[in-house]
Amino acid sequence: MDLKSKIDTTRLPGHIAIIMDGNGRWAQKKGEARLFGHQHGVESVRKIATTSAELGIRYLTLYAFSTENWKRPQYEVDALMDLLVHTLNQELDTLMKNNIRLKAIGDLSRLNTDCHKQLMQTMESTSKNERMELILALNYSGRWELCEATRKIAVEVVEGRMSAEEISSDTIDKFLSTAGMPEPELLIRTGGENRVSNFLLWQIAYSELYFTNVFWPDFREKDLYEAIINYQNRERRFGMISEQINQAFDK
Ligand code: FPP
Repeated sequence: MDLKSKIDTTRLPGHIAIIMDGNGRWAQKKGEARLFGHQHGVESVRKIATTSAELGIRYLTLYAFSTENWKRPQYEVDALMDLLVHTLNQELDTLMKNNIRLKAIGDLSRLNTDCHKQLMQTMESTSKNERMELILALNYSGRWELCEATRKIAVEVVEGRMSAEEISSDTIDKFLSTAGMPEPELLIRTGGENRVSNFLLWQIAYSELYFTNVFWPDFREKDLYEAIINYQNRERRFGMISEQINQAFDK
């Protein structure tokens, strides 16, 4: 039985989030510059996005550039921005053919003009696509997002549109950049590190975490299938006990 057919398509995660890590190490292992790894990472982005859409995943969020990534050498930051512009331009056809809508989360105002413009254009061109939403986290971090949400909620309270007592988990959800999206059921991190690096901190409260040593430029369909199968073999209890879960789902 091949890997793909081991996936239960009735229990797919609706939202998968991925920390794409290991581009630099992948390149260095081959005696190449780090940028070579980022360039090859684009191929993985294409493969994983199209495979996810084909499988029936509704939301795929990719951590493409964190608020901390500005600390990298300037040439690498510039190259990543150029690569993003180039890729968005080049892959419009792939997004349209696969009926994928592009979205972005993060502080987009700090992206350079070319990058910002290309991103807006691609989001506009794909806005009617509905098979899957591909969300790029750009100049994003979970703490940044939580500070932004807190600021916005504070304004609501100060201006009298909401009382402090009314603030609930749902309120916070509504003020996050992911408002309206389901939380990721599965968070994948490639590249061998076992941490969440400030990604979707609020949203991954109940996500299943899957860490793999595979570097992002090597991450392909079979690696995604393995992650989904691993996820499907876990029991998600949300603080309850097994018997309650079995009853709820009539197992
Ligand atoms: C992490 O690898 C990767 C990034 C910071 C950038 C991710 C970018 C891409 C996959 C290419 C472009 C993406 C899109 C969406 C067009 P790393 O550099 O931290 O690797 P290392 O841990 O081995 O140093």
